[in-house]
Amino acid sequence: MRTWIGIVTLLCAAACSDRAAPAADPGPTASAQPAVSLEDDPRAYITSAAYRRGILERDLVDPKPIYARVRLRHYSLDHERGWDRVPLTDWTTLPLTRALATQIATTKRLPELEFGASLAAGFGTEQAPTNLPTTEEAWVALGERVFFEYPMGIAPVVGRALRDGIDLRDYGLIEHEGSYIGVRLAKHNGHTRVVMTCASCHASVGEDGVVSGIRANRDYDLARIRLAHGGANEAQLVDATRPEDLDKLGPGRSDVQRDDVFNPYAFPDFGGIVDMPYLHHTANWYHRGVASLAIRVETVFMTHGRVSDRPPRVLMWALATYLRSLPPPPPVAEPSPESERGRQVFAAEGCDACHAPPLYTSDVRVSLDEMGTDRAAGESPLRGTGYWRVPSLRGVGGNAPYLHHGAFATLESMFDPSRTEPGHRYGLDLQPHERAQLLAFLRTI
Ligand code: HEC
Ligand code: HEC
Repeated sequence: MRTWIGIVTLLCAAACSDRAAPAADPGPTASAQPAVSLEDDPRAYITSAAYRRGILERDLVDPKPIYARVRLRHYSLDHERGWDRVPLTDWTTLPLTRALATQIATTKRLPELEFGASLAAGFGTEQAPTNLPTTEEAWVALGERVFFEYPMGIAPVVGRALRDGIDLRDYGLIEHEGSYIGVRLAKHNGHTRVVMTCASCHASVGEDGVVSGIRANRDYDLARIRLAHGGANEAQLVDATRPEDLDKLGPGRSDVQRDDVFNPYAFPDFGGIVDMPYLHHTANWYHRGVASLAIRVETVFMTHGRVSDRPPRVLMWALATYLRSLPPPPPVAEPSPESERGRQVFAAEGCDACHAPPLYTSDVRVSLDEMGTDRAAGESPLRGTGYWRVPSLRGVGGNAPYLHHGAFATLESMFDPSRTEPGHRYGLDLQPHERAQLLAFLRTI
């Protein structure tokens, strides 16, 4: 119990101190169903607390995990500890170019930045609700900028790596057209800071050379950067891996739950997220539309910034619209006679009971017991619900490592009957030729 209270305090920091709640605090469960329509509507999301509360209460699958309780207690409530009282953030950021990185390595300090005519992105309160984009394309374009440019927080350890003269590509960060993806320079309280955006973990370069959130950046190695640049003990963005576990993490994973256990997740792909019935591997959030995802992303900005400021909502609706516009990750192979036979193996083995075509997912939630994979993340007091969602298999040939925690580096190792890693024991008693057909089929989805 003590750990739980510790976690809540950590997540809430400034906005939810442990002072007694004022009488107006409706608490986690007490608020009545609002008499407002919960259809997707950006204007309602931006202006109506009743609408946002209605979406939140509708879409949290289970109110018990701490993740849900923190949101129910604070989100869109206008009381002393309610997050509606948290001030809006104004960020001004510039891309971190290769030239600026070289300058930092040479001078051993971050440059004074001129945010004037050269200003690339000034996101903040000037994006007033009256200026809402008027077309789907305009929402997507704005959301794409938020995804790549809007900081989720300061990353001192990356700043040190730059001063140490390290090429960030050595840690799997991506350089594209002369700038790093997901790492930017920002002015914060008068000082230049290195900041990270969602794109650092969630973007990569596609076959077509376009950078997007369709596939995550599974080369990004947060642990090595923390170990090499003295940040092992610092609170990190979207990573709560304890210093003693950092050598186990590897690239493409982070432990998002501050719960004293090592229970990392593989970075999920956003391509095709529009079709996922649940958010999070533990399926703790129904994904019923733009509003569901907008609140999910709005609150991640707040909790990772220790709830000291909040992002403008128009940007969060735009970000959710962008993420939902991303097509599923593409298949990695063309269909062949062998893959067609594999399609039959897939059906005969009952894979489609959970991974139902054409989306290769379903709204089934599978219990930790039935799945038998490592349970730690699924029973964490933070996000654990006792269930896993069924991942979509579209593009699965290209999204190793597999399972919520990235336990298998290849499909071959996942379907190897002699493997020792527990769980997901489907398709393991096939003849070698049937297994080859099944894997050939998976690569064409
Ligand atoms: C350090 C890497 C990292 C960064 C940076 C990061 N995320 Fe994530 N994200 C993850 C991991 C790991 C998960 C899986 C967590 C889970 O399933 O509970 C995740 C899950 C998600 C999900 C749920 C996806 C799904 O398939 O259900 C959304 C939405 C999301 N992140 C949005 C964001 C946004 C928006 C930002 C920027 C504010 C961001 N993330 C920044 C690592 C990161
Ligand atoms: C009872 C439902 C169920 C059945 C049947 C099932 N799966 Fe799964 N599958 C899941 C769940 C749940 C996960 C995620 C488990 C986890 O992360 O711990 C998963 C994960 C996977 C993954 C990893 C995906 C990724 O992106 O990490 C692959 C590949 C996969 N299943 C293929 C198959 C194949 C092939 C079959 C049939 C031989 C099959 N599944 C049968 C529920 C099922």
